[in-house]
Amino acid sequence: MIDIPSPESTAAAFADVHGARPVGVWSAPGRVNLIGEHTDYNDGLVFPFAIERRTWAAVSPRQDRIVSVRSGAMPDAAEASLDALGPEHVDGWSAYVFGVLWAMGERGVDLTGRTGFDILLTSDVPLGAGLSSSAAIECAVALAVNDLWELGLSRRELIYICQLAENGAVGAPTGNMDQTASLMGVAGHGVLIDVRAETADPVALHFGDEDLELLVIDTRVHHEHATGGYGERRRSCEDGASAMGVGSLRDLTEGDLPRAAEVLDDVTFRRVKHVVTENARVARTAEVVAKDGPRAIGDLLVASHASMRDDFEISVPELDLAVETALANGAIGARMTGGGFGGAAIALIDANRAEEVGHAVEQAFADAGFTAPIVFVVNPSDGAHRDL
Ligand code: GLA
Repeated sequence: MIDIPSPESTAAAFADVHGARPVGVWSAPGRVNLIGEHTDYNDGLVFPFAIERRTWAAVSPRQDRIVSVRSGAMPDAAEASLDALGPEHVDGWSAYVFGVLWAMGERGVDLTGRTGFDILLTSDVPLGAGLSSSAAIECAVALAVNDLWELGLSRRELIYICQLAENGAVGAPTGNMDQTASLMGVAGHGVLIDVRAETADPVALHFGDEDLELLVIDTRVHHEHATGGYGERRRSCEDGASAMGVGSLRDLTEGDLPRAAEVLDDVTFRRVKHVVTENARVARTAEVVAKDGPRAIGDLLVASHASMRDDFEISVPELDLAVETALANGAIGARMTGGGFGGAAIALIDANRAEEVGHAVEQAFADAGFTAPIVFVVNPSDGAHRDL
């Protein structure tokens, strides 16, 4: 068990198990979404950033066709052959790793004649908090394999490979925000993603310049995207687009909402309204942060939360309480982040107030009889890279 993982400790753990140091260590971060929720699979706009919490992958090539994966948290190796990587062969957390290799094959990498890998993973991305621990695994492994097999794939192609691993091998019908943030993150910047245009542009966030910090409040309410509400919301969006006669909700603007209110049933209308207004909020947030700085985006974050709570209906009482308590204690803005139904909220706060806001949230959770949350600060950080 490794307490504080780093490139060096990951290499050392690999050497303990395999008797030799790895050929290399690669890492990829988790992410926080600043704004733009459930817009990615609607061809829309998203504005996440990579965080300093990462997954490291120590990797060496093998002589045979086996891919063997260990993690610091689960030391027993999971193994699969390059000949049997498909969704029908893999499950559990290692599906994220095998899924990347399977997805490479699906997207045209010739797997015949290649040899496998020994992989050891460590991570300090909290699991199940909505910070994309799974994308961090996928992206670290994809980058390592791209280098070691000398595939020369672009980061854009790696995004699609990692998304396919998530959708096809793991079975979670997600968009590609998480993988884009993890592969394209730039320290101090948000990544303004236009899914339809296939662009991901860094936009300076200036949190430090304005003495601000971004607090993550992990509610510890477990969320699971492979089942349930996430897929149902996605289907509502597709139904809404087709009833409105467009290919995706990206084709609608706020000017179309009166017609949508007439054409759609109430629930579908509210799902559509969330996505359409959220796209507008993302565009506005990127403009405002560039022009007026991060202190001016608070209202947009708050409006995004209200839209998810009331129209998209993916919040839970713990997330609402986290947001309300942060705002009541001076946060400039706050909202739930990620897919919803649990996971984390974020709060943009004055740097000297992190402890105070954290305590207030802990107290409010205790008073409400909720499980104690985990509260910590994150910083916009660099995306995936080779460490050693
Ligand atoms: C999860 C998915 C993303 C995105 C968000 C909601 O994090 O993995 O693709 O859809 O939910 O914005």
